Amino acid sequence: MKKKTVKNILEKKGTEKIAVITAYDAIFARLADKAGIDAILIGDSLGNTFMGFDSTVPVTMDDMLHHVKMVARAKPNALIIADVPFAVAHKCFDSLLEDCANFLRAGADCVKIEGGALLAEKIKKLVDAGIPVMGHIGLMPQQILKLGSYKTFGKTQEEREMLIEDAKKLEEAGAFSFVIEKTDPETAREITNAVSIPTIGIGAGNGCDGQVLVSTDVLGLGEWIPPFAKKYADLSAIVSKAFEEYASDVKSGKFPS
Ligand code: KIV
Ligand code: NA
Repeated sequence: MKKKTVKNILEKKGTEKIAVITAYDAIFARLADKAGIDAILIGDSLGNTFMGFDSTVPVTMDDMLHHVKMVARAKPNALIIADVPFAVAHKCFDSLLEDCANFLRAGADCVKIEGGALLAEKIKKLVDAGIPVMGHIGLMPQQILKLGSYKTFGKTQEEREMLIEDAKKLEEAGAFSFVIEKTDPETAREITNAVSIPTIGIGAGNGCDGQVLVSTDVLGLGEWIPPFAKKYADLSAIVSKAFEEYASDVKSGKFPS
């Protein structure tokens, strides 16, 4: 297996579906890579998963860099995508450029930015600087304080048109791909057909060029799992049982023997 590049991901559109999963440390990055995952996203879902926050809003660049470095140390062949956290993409371009450059210095292969048309100009400049960018449209969880709830996007004609505009602007800006989150499946399919770059869906039906899931959902480690996710294992139960047995063995003197 060879190290995957953004070009490899781009070339999969129309030929092979793209499997993306989040990972936040070396252990899970190694396991994801061994499983043949195409791209590992260090998502700012770090906030609601391992960091114990209610949303992604409190996650900082320092938090993200810490975890990007952990994943990079696993040296996966999978593409390493670093998620630009809350508010950062809305700072002045020089600040954003420096933060994205720091992600690449930390070992990421590219960055992901929540946003479409509104951020297309900045995304173009990042791409010009040599930083591959993945966009993110539909539900953007960093907007939660404004949205009030994690609603589904692209159900109305107006939203559908706006999302297609976002998608086209991202493509024009040189983004190599983008996430479509929690969006009407028909709209997501329409968006996918409207652009030449791969779309990565989450809660957006099966018409996208690839899928991304949060690893704690896939593994059954989260306290709550969104209905669109699929739990492939129940690690919570396995870990609880192991911890209980260990505690019991220590108390009874069975371990160490
Ligand atoms: O932070 C994250 O994990 C994400 C994916 C759900 C796309 O942005
Ligand atoms: Na994210």
